[in-house]
Amino acid sequence: MFSSLWYGGDYNPEQWTPDVWDDDVRLMRRAGVTVATVGVFSWAKLEPADGEFDFGWLDDVIDRLHAGGIGVDLATATAAPPPWLAREHPDTLPVMADGTVLGIGSRQHYSPSSATYREYAARLATRIVERYADHPAVIAWHVNNEYGCHVPRCWSDESAVAFRAWLAERYGDIETLNDAWGTAFWSQHYASFDEVMPPRAAPASINPTQQLDFDRFGSDALLALHRMECDIIRARSDKPITTNFMGFFKPADYWRWAEHVDFVTDDAYPDPADPRAIPFAAAVRDLMRSLAGDKPWILMEQATSAVNWRPRNAPKPAGMFRRLSLQSIARGADGIMQFQWRQSVRGSEKFHSAMVPHAGEDTRIYRDVCALGEELAGLTSVIGSRVPSRVAVMFDWDSWWAVEQTDTPARVSYIRAVLAWHAALYRAGVTVDFASKDSSLDGYDLVIVPTMQVVTPEVQARVAAASGRGATVLVTYQSAILDEGLGVLPGGYLGAWQELLGVRVEEFAPYAQPDQFFDAPATVPVSSLDGELAGGIEGWSEVVHADAAEVLATFTEGLAAGGPAITRRAGAEGAGAAWYVATQPSEALADAVVARLLADSGVAPVATSASDEVEAVRRGDRLFLINHGATAAEVEWDGGAATLDAGEVRVV
Ligand code: GAL
Repeated sequence: MFSSLWYGGDYNPEQWTPDVWDDDVRLMRRAGVTVATVGVFSWAKLEPADGEFDFGWLDDVIDRLHAGGIGVDLATATAAPPPWLAREHPDTLPVMADGTVLGIGSRQHYSPSSATYREYAARLATRIVERYADHPAVIAWHVNNEYGCHVPRCWSDESAVAFRAWLAERYGDIETLNDAWGTAFWSQHYASFDEVMPPRAAPASINPTQQLDFDRFGSDALLALHRMECDIIRARSDKPITTNFMGFFKPADYWRWAEHVDFVTDDAYPDPADPRAIPFAAAVRDLMRSLAGDKPWILMEQATSAVNWRPRNAPKPAGMFRRLSLQSIARGADGIMQFQWRQSVRGSEKFHSAMVPHAGEDTRIYRDVCALGEELAGLTSVIGSRVPSRVAVMFDWDSWWAVEQTDTPARVSYIRAVLAWHAALYRAGVTVDFASKDSSLDGYDLVIVPTMQVVTPEVQARVAAASGRGATVLVTYQSAILDEGLGVLPGGYLGAWQELLGVRVEEFAPYAQPDQFFDAPATVPVSSLDGELAGGIEGWSEVVHADAAEVLATFTEGLAAGGPAITRRAGAEGAGAAWYVATQPSEALADAVVARLLADSGVAPVATSASDEVEAVRRGDRLFLINHGATAAEVEWDGGAATLDAGEVRVV
């Protein structure tokens, strides 16, 4: 799709005068910039009053970039409506669950379900696409920006109408909805769709299935907006379309979204002060590659150094900008873009780092920007090469939404539950793909199903089939508890996976969070029966019956003490072993389990190192070795060994 790696950033020339634009092009060329994302927040400048368009300045900017050999990722500019739209049409503004109307003066103040907003956004997008579709500088379309970032849901009357239409489409008739939602409980029976409301502020907890459907609807409502703009573009241009995702972003089920972009893009701002941010960033890159499937993915936004929206904003220390950029390339990205090109001197993000900082070109940051541009120019041949993985970790937005509702056995962090396993595999040097409920599991030798609370018969069958053909499977606590309508799978939970795993779950026994007057217990140990699976667990135990599985570790405290915490059912006749981990493991315990899973599945690490801070990933015929640590580290791989200096990146 693209012949060079994307390198550049959000370019907001409307903040500057034309003499600066010339300097921008000069500095971009010097830095090896190949693409600028233009127009993301330009609506007010492009349409200063209702129906009055001014494209002259944008023509000028795009022509200058083109003359400089820089491609344009052109935004449809619909992310931040101008003040006049809200003034003339207050119905475009989003309404919160408590009735608060969000106002202007910031950005993203639109209701996804507002017909008026849609009409104006469609008009603007049409004008932009018609004007620039054939401009040779334009290489891609950037639809809106970070859908749902600030306004993931809207509870307005117009949203209520849209929600009802979505429900009518899903359920067909109201009695089917009543059954699915269990409205017999608490006298919630609806006589018609007209009575149904979005889950607005209410006296007590709101019907769980209503909440889940509102999450599904909310994601779809944003997606419908995106698709509206895609249709406008596709009718007028065959250039590729994207909209920037935000990693593990709870409000949008990106498995559903990924089908509607030609290439996946992501915005990622790991906290430079938090060492856990690096393995977390690796997981985000893996998610993007997995969402993209056969399509490219590009890192659309990152910071060259600090952001300005945390309480304290650490700068990226020397080398981190490069390491995190190459981490993305290693994990499949075909480009590295930043927010933003030139650091603003006014407005909310004037303290957010950029490619050209306030201090100008004679700076650490701009020098690093130039160096990375040069390095990426030498990596063009990675484009289109694959990142092989034999391990799939399942990731499911329905389960995320469901497991974090109130009225559950205990508050569980879905991301923690999933990423504990990704992080352990990362420490082991194993590359992971994420898989959705609907993904094919063919080709994976190890399938991990962490806390997939909501299941379908199809996903249960697909995971069992993977085991049947020899893949090792691991299922963890709070999986297969509910069906898609959040109805309980009775008789020991786990549904069809009881047979796969050889276990059933009689009762949950979370280590209750004491109230605010007491400290929560940290971790409690599990008792390893073979001495190998040592380590603690966090927060969760349950009463498990291992009817047809070997018990490898038991709980030591609480109601479930003495009962199975980790089980393994050996695979018979070509089938893979099936593991159940009935709890949230500590790092040490997850590492111990992963070592056994790798042995069971025959999956080998890409490389090994005694340091947890060495990251090793294969992409095509290259091996990327990244030492995120502050000390030198030895690393060994099939056919080689090296000592990486502190902070070193080596591409073998
Ligand atoms: C993103 C957004 C950018 C900028 C950036 C700052 O969420 O798309 O416009 O605000 O964050 O980190």
